[in-house]
Amino acid sequence: MKIPNLKKLIKEIFIKHKLSKTHSIICADALINAELVGAPSHGLSRLKMYCDRINKKIINPKPKIKIKKISNSISHVDANNSIGFVAADIAVKTAIKNAKKTGIGLVAVKNSGHYGLSGYYAEQAVKKNLMVLVFTNAPPAVAPHGALKSLFGTNPICFGTPTGSKVPFILDTSISMINRGKIRVAAREGKKIPQGVALDKNGKLTTDPKKALEGVQLPIAGFRGSGLAWMVDILSGVFTGGNHAGRVKDPFTDFSGPQNIGHLFFVMKPNLFVGNNFNNRITENIKIIKKLPKIKGVKEILYPGQSKFQRFKNNLKKEIKITKTIFDDLKKLVNEKI
Ligand SMILES: NC(=O)c1ccc[n+]([C@@H]2O[C@H](COP(=O)([O-])OP(=O)(O)OC[C@H]3O[C@@H](n4cnc5c(N)ncnc54)[C@H](O)[C@@H]3O)[C@@H](O)[C@H]2O)c1
Repeated sequence: MKIPNLKKLIKEIFIKHKLSKTHSIICADALINAELVGAPSHGLSRLKMYCDRINKKIINPKPKIKIKKISNSISHVDANNSIGFVAADIAVKTAIKNAKKTGIGLVAVKNSGHYGLSGYYAEQAVKKNLMVLVFTNAPPAVAPHGALKSLFGTNPICFGTPTGSKVPFILDTSISMINRGKIRVAAREGKKIPQGVALDKNGKLTTDPKKALEGVQLPIAGFRGSGLAWMVDILSGVFTGGNHAGRVKDPFTDFSGPQNIGHLFFVMKPNLFVGNNFNNRITENIKIIKKLPKIKGVKEILYPGQSKFQRFKNNLKKEIKITKTIFDDLKKLVNEKI
């Protein structure tokens, strides 16, 4: 489907589900962006889930979001169970504003929901020539090292910086071997998942996505990944006032109440310590690394975010492919009686 037509359709679906026009556009833009950067597991495949949660009144379509100013640098957002996209959009814009004023913008969010891709918000800061760290927690998927039960989410860690070129450096990675959305999409589309990324409920390696969803996902790098997941749970859950320690509800399967996810946005001026030399320094840093001798089969050493940038540019010129499952979702949502 052509991008503007799809955007209009998603916007109308959200408006039908009682979101304001402004909030519907924020949500439609985020979902389309996920498709364009090649992360369909965080795009249209989640639209029905968001709408189901609004219908069940556990996402608040008309939230009264409060922004408490703690200092010129620090703000605390109570998202009032808004859809995560809206809370994150307000929070990153506030963090950017604070950082422009004081050099540092730190914004914590509580009472939010799933917001999609961390990198999407990091890009907003980098486009304003700022550095950024973004954290969010997520529903239980990964067992803490040594535990028999999932508790941590796939808790992404995201860092962005200007690079002195048009292409931002955005490291945006789950702490699990693969992100949970990919497992869900595989389950819906009847596909297998790679070996070595998940265990079934009996602790055996599995390539069956349905068994993986009932079992546990494996963290990156063993206890190190588990430690990083824990750090993200503390920063985005314990620190912000959001849910933590495994209490974030699964948005697809648990409709017993709001998720109360926490997010943390930390935005910094890149020239805080080295002044206008930052541009030269980052350019030199990337140049030195890219010039290293390469292993066989590697044409170019890429920095995080580089291939995503290219994918986005290429996909902007194309239509967005709609699978049969998504087409059925869209049809249901358009015809749904609310
Ligand atoms: N909201 C949530 O609850 C939630 C939870 C988990 C993940 N996510 C999102 O899912 C998205 C996907 O996560 P993922 O873990 O599958 O990411 P991924 O594995 O696709 O990429 C991880 C990082 O590696 C970089 N990368 C990839 N190939 C590279 C290469 N050849 N050289 C150098 N760098 C390279 C990417 O730019 C990216 O920064 C992220 O945007 C994340 O924020 C969201």
